[in-house]
Amino acid sequence: MEKNISIIYIISERADICALIKSTLAKTVDEKKITELKGINELPSNFNSDTYIIAEYSRINVSAISKATPKRNIKLYVYVNNITDLSWQDIAFLIKHNIDHIIHQGNIKKLNYEKFIDSKIFKKKHYNAFIDKTSTLLEDLCQNNDNTADADTGINIYGVSKHIKSVIEKACKIAQSESSVLITGESGTGKELIARLIHNKSRRGMNPMVSVNCGAFPEGLLESELFGYKKGAFTGAFTDKQGRFDLADKSTLFLDEIGDMSLSLQVKLLRVIQEREIEPIGSLKTKKIDVRIISATNKNLEEMISEKLFREDFYYRINVIPVHILPLRERKPDIIVLIYYFLKKFSDFQNSAVYGISEDAFDILLNYGWAGNVRELENIMEMLVVLNET
Ligand SMILES: Nc1ncnc2c1ncn2[C@@H]1O[C@H](COP(=O)(O)OP(=O)(O)OP(=O)(O)O)[C@@H](O)[C@H]1O
Ligand SMILES: [Mg+2]
Repeated sequence: MEKNISIIYIISERADICALIKSTLAKTVDEKKITELKGINELPSNFNSDTYIIAEYSRINVSAISKATPKRNIKLYVYVNNITDLSWQDIAFLIKHNIDHIIHQGNIKKLNYEKFIDSKIFKKKHYNAFIDKTSTLLEDLCQNNDNTADADTGINIYGVSKHIKSVIEKACKIAQSESSVLITGESGTGKELIARLIHNKSRRGMNPMVSVNCGAFPEGLLESELFGYKKGAFTGAFTDKQGRFDLADKSTLFLDEIGDMSLSLQVKLLRVIQEREIEPIGSLKTKKIDVRIISATNKNLEEMISEKLFREDFYYRINVIPVHILPLRERKPDIIVLIYYFLKKFSDFQNSAVYGISEDAFDILLNYGWAGNVRELENIMEMLVVLNET
């Protein structure tokens, strides 16, 4: 089985890093094939074609190895302790140098023989794509640690920036509590996705999260949506209607676009949150409910408070734990992996002949303002794949 590997060099000055990679690999690869080196200068001048090099990432290391192996008849892997240490320039640099794989905390456990030899199926020389959908390097960057999003929630939140990783980490912590959460961020930054992650990871996760878009209903309707009503409570109330608060009992109620809620409804909600009970319109009885509230908005609520458009007391009720998501343009490493992820998603889905995007297109996408954030990027990638104008 191992006949495809003739030798693996692990290059790092740090013995602990060498030992970590070696011990992981040694589970499925004959240890005799693994050689540890302190620096690239210790590499031999000639290689067999079935040589694998795993070097601790530094631009100097990568450039030097690329130079030492101009024919690129070997497989190049880099190791980084933490992918969030990579800037977008680092990622672009790795892409440019055609690195086959990147090993990091999030995927090192999966490093076995099968995965190890699965290098680029599709070499870039066939076309001029800079980001291509078969890139194993970018696939590696999409892989998460066990304790982040996708493992047990089915939610995939892609990103390698420090910011998005810290948001995910915070969300996982918050999930263990019952506190009200307010998620803020521009349109399309992933507020609902984070709300779902918090819900799914919480003890309420086995029940479906109930969402209400507060901006989508006129005031009276929103009230009856939230609290429900009794038959005959008003003209047109032909049957009882269960409110969303009631539907969300033992689960989470996601109040989206909370900045659009009227002041008078805020007063009513404040009471419900304080008392933990609802009174359907037209009902004389109150009902105890056990609901966790997550709200989201792209508005600046503090500014709205100073303009008397939002109630301060309500704000402090819903904003026990704030989570802010930065705009996409301020987390460029995420743009790169999201381009890859959406490219792959849409070209596979559309069965498209589009394999990648050129470096020019990449530059434009990276430096664009993304007012619509991830949603806008998603739409543009879909359009590019459909129109085949990459
Ligand atoms: N990090 C991410 N990885 C993968 N998909 C993402 C990510 N962030 C956002 N998305 C996707 O982008 C789209 C917008 O996300 P979402 O609806 O959560 O944003 P939002 O902040 O609630 O937007 P709005 O303010 O317009 O309601 C969704 O399709 C979501 O799945
Ligand atoms: Mg939303």
